[in-house]
Amino acid sequence: MIETVEWTKSGVVFIDQTKLPTEEVYVTCTTHVQVADAIRNMIVRGAPAIGVSAAMGIALGVKSSKAETSGELKKEFDQICKLMGETRPTAVNLFWAIRRMTDKFESLSQRSVTQIVESLIEEAKRMHAEDIAANRAMGKHGATLMPASGGVLTHCNAGSLATAGYGTALGVIRAAVEAGKKIHVYADETRPFLQGARLTAWELMKDGIPTTVISDNMAGVMMQKGKIGAIVVGADRIAANGDVANKVGTYTVAVLAKENGIPFYVAAPLSTVDLGTPDGSKIPIEQRNQREITHIGGKQMTPDGVGIENPAFDVTPAKYVTAIITERGIARAPYQHSLSTLAHQISKEQEKVEV
Ligand code: MRU
Repeated sequence: MIETVEWTKSGVVFIDQTKLPTEEVYVTCTTHVQVADAIRNMIVRGAPAIGVSAAMGIALGVKSSKAETSGELKKEFDQICKLMGETRPTAVNLFWAIRRMTDKFESLSQRSVTQIVESLIEEAKRMHAEDIAANRAMGKHGATLMPASGGVLTHCNAGSLATAGYGTALGVIRAAVEAGKKIHVYADETRPFLQGARLTAWELMKDGIPTTVISDNMAGVMMQKGKIGAIVVGADRIAANGDVANKVGTYTVAVLAKENGIPFYVAAPLSTVDLGTPDGSKIPIEQRNQREITHIGGKQMTPDGVGIENPAFDVTPAKYVTAIITERGIARAPYQHSLSTLAHQISKEQEKVEV
């Protein structure tokens, strides 16, 4: 399995996703500041991977602390969390991970500094393992929704590289293939960062899953020609009403899916569900550097002075979402009810629940 993010004795190791697919380079971050930079600069990306990486970054930060009391350590911890929280605003898994590490710290405040540090490292490692388990469970639930054969379209990269391993949307596809389904993946290239062309295609080729890359503007014609039997994407944040923030272009795909009568599925762990955000209009959307649009491969593509917009995500209204696949089962509309039921359900691992 691809190691997207790994806790090692020498630091937090990432496969550098800015270099794939032509170079397979690993970088070791030895400080929490380096981890924050790796998240901001998309060396590691994808909502669940960002969450796990932030937790490991926090663990790395406290590990190198010289604090002598838990109170001193807490002050440093809060600064580290603040830095992590400023890296990318849309993926709620980042804030979920910071909350979880904070809760852990607060439950340990009577312990020694050494014990707190060790427990925070263990917590970050646990989040890594839990993410892979969640993806496997999502795969099991979601595979039942995939067609027995034919084309499945995905947008961006919601695979091993976007998680601790196996993937959310690509986990569903992997599980369907493991169950004997004959799936051919259509990967939107996903301008401007090319997560589909570079990362999804790389992962799936490694697994021997037949894959065709299309430019984003070809998704409609592929659907119209009957080449797509289902669509499955990941998510960066799902509001309480089921509105889904995901890589920009997802909304277009979802509307086209409805027009063409094709099911549109979202696969995401419950750490991506934000019950505190009532609907998609309240989700903060990251605006990225204009250069991602103006330049391709270092070459300028647009005239000087032209207006540029670069929102990294869009929001797909819940009415376009056929179902949301989580580790605890499949949520269907009305999502207000189904998502909160799944989120509050006492974990019954591997048991399929339809709400
Ligand atoms: O900007 P990115 O590459 O971090 O955006 C990633 C996505 O939009 C993914 O689809 C989403 O995070 C789900 S990953 C399992």
